[in-house]
Amino acid sequence: GQHDRAVVTKKEHLYKILVIGDLGTGKTSIVKRYVHNFFSQNYKATIGVDFALKVLDWDERTKVRLQLWDIAGQERFGQMTRVYYKEAVGAFVVFDLTRNSSFEAVPKWKSDLDNKLVLADGSNIPCVLLANKCDCVKDGLIQSSRTQMDEFARDKGFLAWFETSAKDNIGIDDAANCLVRKILENS
Ligand code: GTP
Ligand code: MG
Repeated sequence: GQHDRAVVTKKEHLYKILVIGDLGTGKTSIVKRYVHNFFSQNYKATIGVDFALKVLDWDERTKVRLQLWDIAGQERFGQMTRVYYKEAVGAFVVFDLTRNSSFEAVPKWKSDLDNKLVLADGSNIPCVLLANKCDCVKDGLIQSSRTQMDEFARDKGFLAWFETSAKDNIGIDDAANCLVRKILENS
């Protein structure tokens, strides 16, 4: 007999995603791990912004291209973030679990973002908080800190938060999938 060939048309999406947070928190390392499955101990500060592309075969009918904008930590004190944020549809804010000052900067990054970028319907873009370098925290976060982090993330308007390690490849795919799921829902 005759076989019908299923013609599946794939829907393709291109999303601009920001990666922000203080100097040296691991933004570039997270992007390199996510896109190239590569990690280096060497620190080379990003100047301005770096770009990377991650292609996801989300499901049989959906392809997602993530254009990642890896923004230098020092840019929070510069004049360029408004330009860099333009037309982004999602963001990661990264802090370093071993450096408290980078955690204290999280609300500053989040409000800088929300003040400069609003979606057409007046809402803020979905944003996921990354608690990076979890490989440096012996035995991981204790339950009470997890509960506090849940509260903090909710309070500051984050969609979710994840413990990540660019070094050991922990939590990055889960965090990205969480963000993409939300963006797909919105679109
Ligand atoms: P700027 O570009 O200056 O804003 O910094 P960044 O946020 O891009 O940080 P970067 O990725 O360059 O990492 C800074 C340092 O932290 C480097 O020495 C990395 O090797 C190290 N690092 C990044 N992620 C991790 C991690 O998950 N675990 C450990 N142990 N070290 C990490
Ligand atoms: Mg960098």
